[in-house]
Amino acid sequence: MGHDDLRIWLNHFEHHAQHPRCVPSAGAEPLKPEERRLIARSIATFQLGEQSEGSTLRRAAERFACVHRLPALPRIVELFICEERRHAALLRDFMEDEHIALMSSHWTDRIFRRLRRLWGLELYLYVLISAELIGIVYYRALEAATGCQRLKLLCRFLVCDELAHVGFGSQMLLALRARRPALPRALLRLAHRTFLAGTVGVVWLTHRLVLRHAGYRPRGFLRACLAQYAFYLEPAKVALPFPSVS
Ligand SMILES: [Fe+2]
Ligand SMILES: [Fe+2]
Repeated sequence: MGHDDLRIWLNHFEHHAQHPRCVPSAGAEPLKPEERRLIARSIATFQLGEQSEGSTLRRAAERFACVHRLPALPRIVELFICEERRHAALLRDFMEDEHIALMSSHWTDRIFRRLRRLWGLELYLYVLISAELIGIVYYRALEAATGCQRLKLLCRFLVCDELAHVGFGSQMLLALRARRPALPRALLRLAHRTFLAGTVGVVWLTHRLVLRHAGYRPRGFLRACLAQYAFYLEPAKVALPFPSVS
């Protein structure tokens, strides 16, 4: 990942910071009681996951930027953390208007936070991107599971932002991975896919009501998450699904 790539990401996150997402609440139809019961704990867990001070990530990015002479990186990471906090705020506003209780702690959130702190920027990104890949599939499922237009719009915004986050994270990880010899690279890929599959299993167990309501079964949910992984983190395949023009 070069300085030009980082400049593009810096522009992206600065643009988002200057034009923050806004989900209008006026005139929005409230959730039906059965929908509220279905999603309350699930959305509260994701809201919790979105809010983070980001101090570990900030420190790791500063160290990494210093070693690799990437002056734009700390600012990008700072803007990224702010965007995640805006996600948490959008979800919180929705939950408060819908009288859904906020969650202060959940065991899955505690595990994720501990794992991210273990070792440097690269491990942080592996753990973070796993959550974001699953988040993309989850927010799409949540959108499908509700008839509430405000929540649908919120999910769409979150998916849009998470797609860009995964784009940024995967570019960083692929650049870091490419510097390693073939065997460690293959082992890293295997370890990450295994971690992702395990995390998908945990997310299925804790959010299965919403996911089932959106039409997912465990295998389908795993397949959808692994497809996201393959799209962003597998080496690019150049074959196109249509014939070339001669
Ligand atoms: Fe987010
Ligand atoms: Fe994100």
